Amino acid sequence: MEVVQVKDKQFKLTMPESEILSAIRVIADKMNHDLAGKNPIFIAVLNGAFMYASDLMKHITIPCEISFVKLASYHGTKSSNAVSELIGLNVDISNRTVVVVEDIVDSGLTMQKLVELLQSRQVKELYLSTLLFKPDALQCPVELDYIAKEIPNDFIVGYGLDYDGYGRNLRNIYTLIPE
Ligand code: IMP
Ligand code: MG
Repeated sequence: MEVVQVKDKQFKLTMPESEILSAIRVIADKMNHDLAGKNPIFIAVLNGAFMYASDLMKHITIPCEISFVKLASYHGTKSSNAVSELIGLNVDISNRTVVVVEDIVDSGLTMQKLVELLQSRQVKELYLSTLLFKPDALQCPVELDYIAKEIPNDFIVGYGLDYDGYGRNLRNIYTLIPE
């Protein structure tokens, strides 16, 4: 069993790079088919989706654009009143076919917020893609169009995903070993 230490925690190898890459290829093939002629703009959500976006885009063969955004939350006087804002979107996405490129859908709240923010910019159509999906953690309805891999409700690191800022550089995906 391959184990890595990230900060104070240990993680075991659960998804090798080869498995991630072949799942991404399947999604890319579907996108090339579904989105042909739509001139889509892919919107990758930083930081977590940087590796997924990179490997996905290498297999997209139709004309397209890619842009990168961050989702920032500002807390008002009450922490429950978090206001989210999209940072870095410097292209006009109105009347465009937009494809979200996310690392993981856990509770689904981040994806739900993204959908709301993107819809408010009058996109023509919105497709949602995620590298990883934890169906058992979902707390709100999100309609995902492309899921590379479904995973159990465990904490993972690697391939862009972090534990307290660390571990994003790992080429495989590792699952937290409970203490
Ligand atoms: P949400 O709960 O679906 O809103 O996910 C929020 C964010 O939490 C994701 O975009 C990830 O950045 C992060 N996240 C969720 N699950 C994991 C995990 O297992 N490891 C690392 N980050 C995670
Ligand atoms: Mg994320």
